[in-house]
Amino acid sequence: MYAQVEKYSPPAWAHDLKCIPASFVKLAQRPTPVHPWNLPGVPDGYHISIHRDDLTGCTLSGNKIRKIEFILAEAIEQKCDCVITCGGFQSNHCRAVAVACTQVGLECHLLLRCPGDKDPSLVQCNGNLLLDRLAGANIVLVTPAYYEGLHTDKGYVPGLKDKMEVHAAKLRAEGKKPYLIPIGGSNVTGLWGQIEVFRELLEQGLIEQFDDIVLPIACGGGTSIGLAVANYLTGSKLRIHAVMVEHIDADEAYRWVNDDLAQLGLADKVKGQDILDIVYGYAGDGYSLFSDQDIEHLISISTSTGIILEPTYSLKTVKGMLTELQSNPTRFKGKRILYMFTGGTMGLYDQRIDGIVKRHPLTNKITVYPET
Ligand SMILES: Cc1ncc(COP(=O)(O)O)c(C=O)c1O
Repeated sequence: MYAQVEKYSPPAWAHDLKCIPASFVKLAQRPTPVHPWNLPGVPDGYHISIHRDDLTGCTLSGNKIRKIEFILAEAIEQKCDCVITCGGFQSNHCRAVAVACTQVGLECHLLLRCPGDKDPSLVQCNGNLLLDRLAGANIVLVTPAYYEGLHTDKGYVPGLKDKMEVHAAKLRAEGKKPYLIPIGGSNVTGLWGQIEVFRELLEQGLIEQFDDIVLPIACGGGTSIGLAVANYLTGSKLRIHAVMVEHIDADEAYRWVNDDLAQLGLADKVKGQDILDIVYGYAGDGYSLFSDQDIEHLISISTSTGIILEPTYSLKTVKGMLTELQSNPTRFKGKRILYMFTGGTMGLYDQRIDGIVKRHPLTNKITVYPET
């Protein structure tokens, strides 16, 4: 075991919250850098900087590891010996849990949703899934119907949430003590990871330098909710905009926020709509789906700025940010925008974009030596 459980002391401004974690396991490299970003397509007068939370580590990278530092500490405190979580077959969260579990000495079980109606045995072992396997995680591939839950002639077959319970029962019968992590690691324990991100930004004097923060939201929303809570507790200096990257309606998304506020003891003081602007209209055809034009946009950003986004979270969020800056500037508090790059780079290696990149007339050329 490399990482040790350490006692956690919250920042003074978060002392009165409920559900303060007792401990955390330090896994992320911090503080992550913030630097200006010459993103193409930004309207005149705006200044965009990028918060590189993609750099929290290599295989342990991105925003997910921030949540996992608190969640795995709780699993260890509760004397659990194994962890179960779930997500898409290229889930960044599941990959980060798999790697972190092995580093802290916990057994890891992942229930992963297969893409489309593919026969699970034909799913390629690449991107995040490759890392899940290399980290030694036990993997159950679930077809979409079984992931969501389905009605059959013989009655209702439960979806993945219940499947985690079923899997947990199996492990308990083997004498193990499992800890269940919800999809995306979005629970009130994981949310403290972003309270810490906000503390890091404050300690570096960076919060004063911005008017707005823009980041993606999906799967429970813990990242943006944690930032929004911290921003509220410290005096709401900034406006936080979370671009929705999947087809979840606003009522449902604000319910995630309000549930967390209730658990933190803030429900009678503030509502989700007051602290978080959820931006709709940029999920495209759905979660993790993208078009050839999206990849062309990604290529234009990467070849001109050296920041390599990925299509599921960051590209959709950047597209949302640029469009809203153009068409709806009053949505923003000011002109100094901090874009939070939450990582997800491993998802680029799932082979879905290789063909599009090959066909694209990139500015760089590949030549062969010796020339024929
Ligand atoms: C790279 C990346 N960015 C953002 C998110 C969204 O984070 P959250 O679920 O906390 O909204 C996720 C996962 O869902 C992710 O993998």
